Amino acid sequence: MARERFFIRDASLWVGKKIELTGWVRHIRIGGSICFIEVRDGTGLMQAVVVKQEVSEQIFETCTTLKIESSLTITGTLKADARAPGGYEVAVEELEAVSIPEEEYPISKKSHGIDFLLEKRHLWIRSSRQLAILQIRSELAFALRTYFHENGFVLIDTPILTGSIGESAGNLFQTEYFDLGFAYLAQTGQLYLEAAASAFRNVYCFGPTFRAEKSKTRRHLTEFWMLEAEVAYCDSDGNMDLQEDMISYAVRRTVQRCTRQLEEIERDTAPLLQVKPPFERVSYTEAVEMLNKKGFELSWGDDIGGDEETALSEHFSNPVFIYNYPKQTKAFYMKPDPADPKTVLCDDLFAPEGYGEIIGGSQRNDDLMSLERRIKEEGLEPESYDWYLDIRRYGSVPHAGFGLGLERLLSWICGLKHVREAIPFPRLINRIYP
Ligand code: 4AD
Ligand code: MG
Repeated sequence: MARERFFIRDASLWVGKKIELTGWVRHIRIGGSICFIEVRDGTGLMQAVVVKQEVSEQIFETCTTLKIESSLTITGTLKADARAPGGYEVAVEELEAVSIPEEEYPISKKSHGIDFLLEKRHLWIRSSRQLAILQIRSELAFALRTYFHENGFVLIDTPILTGSIGESAGNLFQTEYFDLGFAYLAQTGQLYLEAAASAFRNVYCFGPTFRAEKSKTRRHLTEFWMLEAEVAYCDSDGNMDLQEDMISYAVRRTVQRCTRQLEEIERDTAPLLQVKPPFERVSYTEAVEMLNKKGFELSWGDDIGGDEETALSEHFSNPVFIYNYPKQTKAFYMKPDPADPKTVLCDDLFAPEGYGEIIGGSQRNDDLMSLERRIKEEGLEPESYDWYLDIRRYGSVPHAGFGLGLERLLSWICGLKHVREAIPFPRLINRIYP
């Protein structure tokens, strides 16, 4: 950065020095001739102490008019003080209000209902808990990118406006597209990544993904971020190896770098620190037996729904793979298992502690004829997949990949009850504001 500037996170380097602190008032308390202001600067919290005798009359007067979330600039000397929250405080010499709100700040220390907080999301993100969660999100996203970058994967930015349905026709956002009919908001970047894998071999994408989910569950957003990877010359087992290595790396690195934030949100990190490969691999058929022993009444062929997901993921203390689901429960592009063609070579990775599915992956159907047949069976328009079939026409190879839901992984890492807190501005079936 061009100019050396003070930020609260670097307080230990500035003890005894003159600082200029810019930020917002988190809390203010005036007792007689002394005023304590808790200042938030975006990187941390620090107490500022204004002593009436040591500043101009006008500065102390300004202090009496400050409200929560007033913005201000302070200059003073930084002191280490074990009694101060965070261990440092600034002895104020100058203070200037940048902007003082006319009205009381709507979010107070008392507990508010979730609907109110979501309505005020643009302000709610200033609170300590939300700051911590979104900082962890930032570290986690960076860890994922780093993992792929350092392992030789090429970043391929896949389109958001697409002409072919990526996952299922059931939950598409669609928009008119000039003279060309309809375009859909991407449900996945996968089909394009498959094309890129035949060009670059190991590729990934990371971007927003859209699903018009008609369900209101703690796991579903209508816009979420997905990290997807695709590898040429890779089978389903190799795909699971990659997923467990990536998850272990990303979780470990994020926990190490976010100690303070995880403490802030009171997350017990023990279940996270023990995550390491290999993860247990349980076939769909075994999973159905396990669930029926727990009192569910599943028949072979049924999908594993939300409650079953929760039960399975409470059973294991590490993430667990459920692999090779029945063909009819999964998307058209998955490769049938040659040893048992009722099933496809796929995996879902379930996070423990009841969190459920965080990754969906599979080996892709690399056979032109059977893929063409599946596209027709699913009632998809073959013309819009001609380009996709070209990947099978010209140098088709076994290949596999997966998609990881960022908010799902973050919810587990942070121990959140609902994915809506895992994204800055959640998009839900009943929410598009703010
Ligand atoms: O299992 P899904 O649907 O898989 C795919 O989209 C594949 N095309 C990915 C691939 O193989 N490249 O979605 C992948 C992950 C899920 O495991 C889940 O974590 C997340 O995306 N996800 C959602 N997260 C939040 N809200 C939703 N509505 C989600 N739908 C899927
Ligand atoms: Mg899935």
